[in-house]
Amino acid sequence: MTENQTRDLLVELAASLFARGFSVGSAGNISARLPDGGYLITPTNSSLGRLDPARLSRLDPDFRHVTGDPPSKEVVMHRAFYRARADSGAVVHLHSTQATAVACLPDVDHDNPIPPLTPYFVMRVGRRMPIVRYFRPGDAAMEPAIHGAAIDARAVLLANHGPVVSGKTLTDAVYAAEELEEAAKLYLMLRHASPRLLTAGQVDELLNAFG
Ligand code: 13P
Repeated sequence: MTENQTRDLLVELAASLFARGFSVGSAGNISARLPDGGYLITPTNSSLGRLDPARLSRLDPDFRHVTGDPPSKEVVMHRAFYRARADSGAVVHLHSTQATAVACLPDVDHDNPIPPLTPYFVMRVGRRMPIVRYFRPGDAAMEPAIHGAAIDARAVLLANHGPVVSGKTLTDAVYAAEELEEAAKLYLMLRHASPRLLTAGQVDELLNAFG
């Protein structure tokens, strides 16, 4: 995909997320790796609903701002994923309501708060999605914590803040962020019941087939 195609796709996917309530106000940020090793990231304080492809922030391969509007304050959050997971082509950070609600619950398993309820959550997000402790938005100190967690997780929940999800492509990362939000919703509906979970064997089968 060319840089201009990536710009257009990022704007289209961001607008779709915004239109469906996955992001409100100026919350959330999205980045994508470019063919030359640089990155596009949404500008700080921009609405995912009204991005301009020509004004996206362009970063060099060392994540320095080169052109476009000033980048998201969360560049280090995205960098942590690209550096921890060499196969990442895109990263999506949202404050989507249900995933953020799970990230506010103290009494969940912080190593893996959302159990394997449905196949598409496992296929898109993987076996494990830990909670990373709270940091102020934009705090550079979050980078090592996210990097450590992302080595064996495609997505994390930032405590009291929201999800960060990586994918091989922009479309993959957005699909995973959407599945995560739905899984969080199911988990919140069912956590005081005793839902049937996918078995370890069923999770392995999914990851072997689609992981
Ligand atoms: P930016 O507007 O700087 O991208 O920050 C939004 C956000 O979601 C902070 O976590």
